[in-house]
Amino acid sequence: MLSQKLQDAINAQINAELWSAYLYLSMSMDAEAKGYKGVANWFFVQWQEEQDHARIFMNYLNSRDCKVELKPIEAVDTTWGSVLEMFQETLKHEKVVTGLINNLAAIAAEDKDFASSNMLVWFIDEQIEEEESARDMIFAAEAVENDKYGMYQLDKELAARVYTQASPLATAE
Ligand code: FEO
Repeated sequence: MLSQKLQDAINAQINAELWSAYLYLSMSMDAEAKGYKGVANWFFVQWQEEQDHARIFMNYLNSRDCKVELKPIEAVDTTWGSVLEMFQETLKHEKVVTGLINNLAAIAAEDKDFASSNMLVWFIDEQIEEEESARDMIFAAEAVENDKYGMYQLDKELAARVYTQASPLATAE
């Protein structure tokens, strides 16, 4: 059984992951409305990945005989000034999420809850990727700032991003 402190923190994390999903879905819809179908696709995939993250935590609580408690999801912004701003906010947000995951790992370590520590390793690695891909997108968007043809090409590239299910879910089925 997990400590109550860790259960509460994981339930809060499920909410944070679902909020992240909602944020990226909103960015996807804003990009779509502005004609950037590739950017919209990139954020739509991000939306799917965040739902996977929430699902992994829900599966974990269920498997440890703990109760999943879904909380209200707060509103997100609905429009951004530019594609670059979307990616800048993405990186800022992912850094916050990295802090939340590190906090979960700290609680698990304090509890000497080795199973939870082990589960969190996937998320610690995932956050490195999340921050790196947001940084890559900032560099790409900066490179084409004020260059409409470059933006058109970048948008076409981002249309190729494909969702793949997170590995802990693939092995859990
Ligand atoms: Fe669930 Fe983007 O980290």
